[in-house]
Amino acid sequence: MAKLDNKVAIVTGGAGGIGAGIVRAYVKENAKVVIVDIAEEKGKALSDALNEQGYETVFIKTDLTDKASLQACVDEVIATYGQIDILVNNAHASRMQGFLDITEEELELSMKTGFFATFYLSQMVIPYLKETKGNMINFGSGAAMKGDKNQGSYVVAKEAIRGMTRVIANEFGEFGIRANLISPIAYSEGVEQWKEANPEYYEKVLEGIPLRRFGDVEHDIGPAAVFLASEDSKYITGQTLMVDGGSIKIY
Ligand SMILES: NC(=O)c1ccc[n+]([C@@H]2O[C@H](COP(=O)([O-])OP(=O)(O)OC[C@H]3O[C@@H](n4cnc5c(N)ncnc54)[C@H](O)[C@@H]3O)[C@@H](O)[C@H]2O)c1
Repeated sequence: MAKLDNKVAIVTGGAGGIGAGIVRAYVKENAKVVIVDIAEEKGKALSDALNEQGYETVFIKTDLTDKASLQACVDEVIATYGQIDILVNNAHASRMQGFLDITEEELELSMKTGFFATFYLSQMVIPYLKETKGNMINFGSGAAMKGDKNQGSYVVAKEAIRGMTRVIANEFGEFGIRANLISPIAYSEGVEQWKEANPEYYEKVLEGIPLRRFGDVEHDIGPAAVFLASEDSKYITGQTLMVDGGSIKIY
């Protein structure tokens, strides 16, 4: 038996990067996966390619910064499958900037794609997770836990997501719902672009990884996301799981 048999999973930012890695890992455990992303071509191509291989996915074009688009997405998932078992709030867009120069636009980009999308989707999906005793996985960051300089707009959104994850774990544990957070490091398209713009920062991050490499989106982050979504982690909630090659230790 596969670990996610008969489960319906929503993965935001599922068209690329870590999200696409999780989509691939989930379908291989027999989940039906809803790929949610603004990148229509990439999302459709991934969905079509996986469906051709015999997996079950659907792509729903969604702008995470738009609450109406989030509601339309959830409504479509329910109309299609009638249930939601797993919500992976993975997508997050942001720009690096010195604290005093962070613009309203930059702050809004990070808060809207990261924090507000995670917050509103959680509010919209938790009633369905109550029915399935489902679970959710949110995304944090080691840079946010350390408070890296020039990452202000990203850090505030990420740590708000972590706080919210603990609230959800406490508030909905009695309904059998679990909420955990992954803090990853992986070589995604986003990291590739960031590396080009910030080669020194990239080298510094790499030097700080005891396992001496960036993770693989499907084969390093995917299994952790399968674990937290499956019965294997049924007594784990409200936790931050560092899937970062050992970069950050939480004692
Ligand atoms: N990659 C890393 O090393 C790393 C490190 C720490 C934290 N993280 C976190 O992990 C998660 C995934 O990171 P990644 O590197 O794969 O990101 P990425 O930039 O490679 O991919 C993000 C995805 O989100 C989608 N997206 C962006 N804006 C959107 C919007 N408005 N509506 C819908 N979709 C939108 C993009 O199209 C893309 O497919 C993020 O929360 C990120 O902050 C990543």
